[in-house]
Amino acid sequence: MTIHIGAKPGEIAETVLLPGDPYRARWAAETFLKGAELVNEVRGMLGFTGTWRGNRVTIQGSGMGMPSLSIYANELIRDYGAQTLIRIGSCGGMQERVKVRDVILAMSATTVSTPSRGIFRELNFAPTADWSLLSAAARAAEGKDVGVHVGGIYSSDVFYDERPDLNEQMTRHGILGVEMEAAELYILAARYQRRALAVLTVSDHLITGEALPSDQREKSFGDMVEIALEAAFS
Ligand code: HPA
Repeated sequence: MTIHIGAKPGEIAETVLLPGDPYRARWAAETFLKGAELVNEVRGMLGFTGTWRGNRVTIQGSGMGMPSLSIYANELIRDYGAQTLIRIGSCGGMQERVKVRDVILAMSATTVSTPSRGIFRELNFAPTADWSLLSAAARAAEGKDVGVHVGGIYSSDVFYDERPDLNEQMTRHGILGVEMEAAELYILAARYQRRALAVLTVSDHLITGEALPSDQREKSFGDMVEIALEAAFS
């Protein structure tokens, strides 16, 4: 047990999928894993371990924002030995050609700041995805009936952003979408020599104002989970 995860030693798999929403962790575990068992419910941040095509997988909620994700990723890596960590979550589209329901595979994650800011001091570290996961996810996505984009995303600290000019600069520089967790996941994976990737579904759009209708959410999130699982075990 750690401060924030109640799982016993050995109850967390080496491969962990990290949705922000704990209820989505439960939905994904019930939908895609065999023999899924609840391994964590501390603070309601549900985690489940089961198997997918015979491979052990944990699906653990990370909460919203990098400070929350940092707590779970640190404990998963340092105390439970997680080796492959894949964020599955939603993002806001930032390019016209990126449509709601499309999937973004985050090659890099730009930030204003992260929980690791303090150790980098004057450095601007470039948080990047693991290539083996990124390339496998791109191959997995090709086989699905879903638009897929590979490129940079923006990991923001604010959902209700009072600085729209920052989003405009991101769009101008080709950033595909905005979310709030991936950069710190990539930094922690780099620090502990683990593999990390973020697979994101575009749930809303900052330019067009479009949002994913609720009846389409499940199917879209399902594509994302399958891409993440196929990438992890390819
Ligand atoms: N901003 C930040 N995070 C998000 C958004 C957004 O517009 N949409 C989904 N996650």
